[in-house]
Amino acid sequence: AKEPVRVLVTGAAGQIGYALVPMIARGVMLGPNQPVILHMLDIPPAAEALNGVKMELVDAAFPLLKGVVATTDVVEACTGVNIAIMVGGFPRKEGMERKDVMSKNVSIYKSQASALEKHAAANCKVLVVANPANTNALILKEFAPSIPEKNITCLTRLDHNRALGQISERLNVQVSDVKNVIIWGNHSSTQYPDVSHATVKTHSGEKPVPELVADDAWLKGEFITIVQQRGAAIIKARKLSSALSAASSACDHIRDWVLGTPEGTWVSMGVYSDGSYNVPAGLIYSFPVTCRHGEWTIVQGLSIDEYSRKKLDLTAEELTEEKALAYSCLS
Ligand code: NAI
Repeated sequence: AKEPVRVLVTGAAGQIGYALVPMIARGVMLGPNQPVILHMLDIPPAAEALNGVKMELVDAAFPLLKGVVATTDVVEACTGVNIAIMVGGFPRKEGMERKDVMSKNVSIYKSQASALEKHAAANCKVLVVANPANTNALILKEFAPSIPEKNITCLTRLDHNRALGQISERLNVQVSDVKNVIIWGNHSSTQYPDVSHATVKTHSGEKPVPELVADDAWLKGEFITIVQQRGAAIIKARKLSSALSAASSACDHIRDWVLGTPEGTWVSMGVYSDGSYNVPAGLIYSFPVTCRHGEWTIVQGLSIDEYSRKKLDLTAEELTEEKALAYSCLS
């Protein structure tokens, strides 16, 4: 039998946590043959709710679930984990300055980075979901210098999946037949959802999305805004932010990273920029990547027209500013 993989979920008593832990326990993230031990962390005010989630995990009698650690102790939570999904964070509340929210999250990610660095399993893979996701991941990287930078990523797969969903709705095709959209940049409203290289599987082979949609104004207008603003639209409709789609996309992100992307398909991941596509090195930026043997590689050589170039630069500028703001919170 396979050894269980230890998966940490921080903020596990929250909304995304509640949707995510059963998916992990059912094998959605790591496959139907991989036993798991869940480590769930939250803060003391949520301890009772966290214990309730643990009770429900026991009640669901998941065959793959070999153990549950539910704790408010960061060291206990991080010890021995192979995968860390960082969902916990400080949300922006009404009337709060951006700098104040940043400062709270910088201090959370700084201390959790140290705990992971000291106590996680070697080669632990980290996915930051909590906002500001890219910059939280960057702080985590800075304060966990012994964790290789290729192991620290942030979630833009939800935006990627939203883009696939919109194209599928527009063309009235199965979402599973659409592929290779790209989310560039920040997980924020400056992200650039790009379909220049996306395709749809049809009876007569793979066709480019721009050709099938045949409406450049829609692709450069409404499509982009819908994807960028989808989070806000969900909040408006549900009075709560996206949780099931965020949890499902987090599973997609880890599954593809660990088990590999299908031949000819790429996905979007927030990763440490090496300067590819002239994106400043040293930002956590969403790129198209393929994954193999547990490692991601940025897809190279895609043509970037002038229109796309501006969008790539705009979201990079925002990330550079966020980085500066985060550093100013450190001093
Ligand atoms: P939530 O407020 O329901 O849950 C957050 C949980 O984190 C709470 O239980 C809270 O007690 C906990 N928490 C706070 N500080 C913590 C700490 N220091 N250590 C451990 N746990 C801590 O929020 P929800 O809806 O689950 O969202 C979580 C985060 O994910 C938010 O930051 C949200 O903005 C972000 N998000 C990111 C998405 C993405 O695509 N990257 C998509 C949707 C949400």
